[in-house]
Amino acid sequence: MLFLLLPLLAALFPGGDSDEPVSFHVIQTSSFHNHSWVHMGSGWLGELQTHSWNSSSDTFIYLYPWSRGNFSNREELMDLESFFWENFIGIQEVYTDYFMFEDPFDLQMATGCELHSGKGFLCFLQLAIQGSDFMSFQNETWSPSPEGGIKAQEFCKLFNLDQGFVQGYAHTLLSDTFPHFTLALLDAGKAHLQRQVKPEAWLSSGPSPGPGHLLLVCHVSGFYPKPVWVMWMRGEQEQQGTQRGDILPNADGTWYLRATLDVAAGEVAGLACRVKHSSLGGQDLVLHWGAPPSALGWILSAVTVALALLTGLGFWFRKHW
Ligand SMILES: *[C@@H]1O[C@H](CO)[C@@H](O)[C@H](O)[C@H]1NC(C)=O
Ligand SMILES: *[C@@H]1O[C@H](CO)[C@@H](O)[C@H](O)[C@H]1NC(C)=O
Ligand SMILES: *[C@@H]1O[C@H](CO)[C@@H](O)[C@H](O)[C@H]1NC(C)=O
Ligand SMILES: *[C@@H]1O[C@H](CO)[C@@H](O)[C@H](O)[C@H]1NC(C)=O
Repeated sequence: MLFLLLPLLAALFPGGDSDEPVSFHVIQTSSFHNHSWVHMGSGWLGELQTHSWNSSSDTFIYLYPWSRGNFSNREELMDLESFFWENFIGIQEVYTDYFMFEDPFDLQMATGCELHSGKGFLCFLQLAIQGSDFMSFQNETWSPSPEGGIKAQEFCKLFNLDQGFVQGYAHTLLSDTFPHFTLALLDAGKAHLQRQVKPEAWLSSGPSPGPGHLLLVCHVSGFYPKPVWVMWMRGEQEQQGTQRGDILPNADGTWYLRATLDVAAGEVAGLACRVKHSSLGGQDLVLHWGAPPSALGWILSAVTVALALLTGLGFWFRKHW
């Protein structure tokens, strides 16, 4: 059944040229501090958060109308919720009492699937305790991580006794529920995931890198999807000194990037920042350093100069009359 869905995926995401595999994963963090638990959870389709966790009702919060995929009336979603409740939240006393973990105590769980081209889905379920790997679930068995020591070995023995979990629940989750849910989310959210949002770009100067040098900064913001090309140019020549920062998320789900160039003060003339992005339809954005921002920019500067002159004249008149 899953193999029938793979061509659909190829049709949804033609080219598949992105270097990151398509993935859906859920992260859960439970902290026991000062005799009480705090639980946080989130669901991620690639780098996009699609779910959060309501700890008063122990249910998912669907951040988009399509965050249910097409599971809206199906048992899988309930299964997923009760899976988290029963296995990670409901048994928390096991961690603190049975193993006498100290207070404060932090438990992190990550589970999900990555779709690798040619290899199908690779799914995982991992637990970390106090920030180190503790145990992971593979091939219908819990395996202790070396960092987990003797406690992890005991814990795995205990968990592996629960055949209903290891051969039933967890196996179904990883081999069936997650792969189907990932495909369903990609399908339901395709309008959102395939949207094209044009970048805005502007220039500024950064802190001087040294005497007689300028740091030119090209800011590119508000674009989606993430792949973007930004380069400082002199005419058609790419400036190899261009330094790209990391691509950072904006709060609205779009992306931000800055590209800087360290240049001798005498050599700034003729430099421009060039931006290529899929939303621009081949019409690259080009911003010239030192060029007037726009007609409006000219008008504003003219008005500013006129105001400055008038103010100056005003002072002169007040002094001399
Ligand atoms: C711990 O909990 C107790 C009782 O609930 C409270 O009085 C105390 O202020 C808490 N301490 C800290 C550090 O939060
Ligand atoms: C969380 O659950 C509670 C109790 O069911 C509900 O009243 C509240 O609206 C939920 N919060 C969100 C953000 O969904
Ligand atoms: C999974 O377990 C089965 C039987 O327990 C074994 O035959 C198989 O080689 C294992 N696969 C991996 C990838 O460890
Ligand atoms: C859910 O979506 C998948 C992939 O788009 C589709 O193959 C499947 O039939 C759908 N299931 C339901 C119950 O609609």
